[in-house]
Amino acid sequence: MTDNQISMTRLAPKTFQLVEIKWNRQESNGYYRIGLTCDAAYIHAVPGQFVTLHLPGTLTPLLRRPFSIHRLIRENGRVVGIEILYKVVGGFTEKLIRVSPGDPVDLLGPIGQGFTVSGEFRKPAFVGGGIGVAPLVFLADALMESGLDPSGAVVFLGGRTTGDILCANIFRSHGLSVAIATDDGSLGEKGLVTRPLEHWLTSNRPDIIYSCGPMPMLRSVAKIARKNSLPCEVSIETVMACGLGACLGCAVNKNDISGKYQHVCIDGPVFDPSVTVF
Ligand SMILES: Cc1cc2nc3c(=O)[nH]c(=O)nc-3n(C[C@H](O)[C@H](O)[C@H](O)COP(=O)(O)OP(=O)(O)OC[C@H]3O[C@@H](n4cnc5c(N)ncnc54)[C@H](O)[C@@H]3O)c2cc1C
Ligand code: FES
Repeated sequence: MTDNQISMTRLAPKTFQLVEIKWNRQESNGYYRIGLTCDAAYIHAVPGQFVTLHLPGTLTPLLRRPFSIHRLIRENGRVVGIEILYKVVGGFTEKLIRVSPGDPVDLLGPIGQGFTVSGEFRKPAFVGGGIGVAPLVFLADALMESGLDPSGAVVFLGGRTTGDILCANIFRSHGLSVAIATDDGSLGEKGLVTRPLEHWLTSNRPDIIYSCGPMPMLRSVAKIARKNSLPCEVSIETVMACGLGACLGCAVNKNDISGKYQHVCIDGPVFDPSVTVF
């Protein structure tokens, strides 16, 4: 296969679909979860992959907006939809909170490279910051399905305040332990989420750290993983333009002397931080 064929393969296979809103509910102040119908092919979606959305009939924002797949919606064992957990931050998400069940939405996906879901990792640690928890729930669902023993796994959740700590009960319902830290100390330990992580690492050794959240948190998690010689995968959320590998809106550099860059949209959003600069 030529380089050109490879890049066309990376660009080509996604499908645009006009799908229907199943639900759109407030989760907590400023956060919502929306259920969308999708085709059965989403059974092959990998945790960490994302979709892009556009609201038909709207001109602004012009660009599609990326959102991680938060959960698969199943009925009678069949995948009939996906759920997205979103934070209201600007033009698109302010419009999204006003859509209702039955309304159409233009869905493109699943896109990108997700987390490694492998029976090899028996004792994972998850680190989620704020809305970064969204893909980690799909990841926990998939690991549980693949036979993970939850007793060895720990989830670290961080946020500014209580309302930014999402999905703790979903992880607990899987039997996973959850440690919480908030900047203002209103829930869990006061301070950054990396503090309980580092403390836990003094007497525990996970076989991988999976993380998603704000860039400074991801950089700290990557540094902690490196210091402890632990495998690590981080999901990076950059601002995106095309979301399809066709522009340079999301480029990050490879951590080598090649000077090459990677597209977060198609080479990521999940990366091994030892080979990518972010
Ligand atoms: C791969 C990927 C997965 C994502 N998954 C989720 C998710 O599951 N749930 C969710 O709520 N959001 C997610 N995001 C972020 C989401 O795409 C943005 O919040 C959304 O595009 C904002 O659109 P808007 O028009 O409402 O706000 P805008 O008006 O575009 O932006 C409002 C503010 O948010 C900032 N902003 C926009 N995009 C991002 C971003 N990607 N990261 C940090 N700040 C940003 C802008 O700089 C601006 O300050 C993801 C982003 C990526 C790249
Ligand atoms: S957003 Fe255009 S290449 Fe990634």
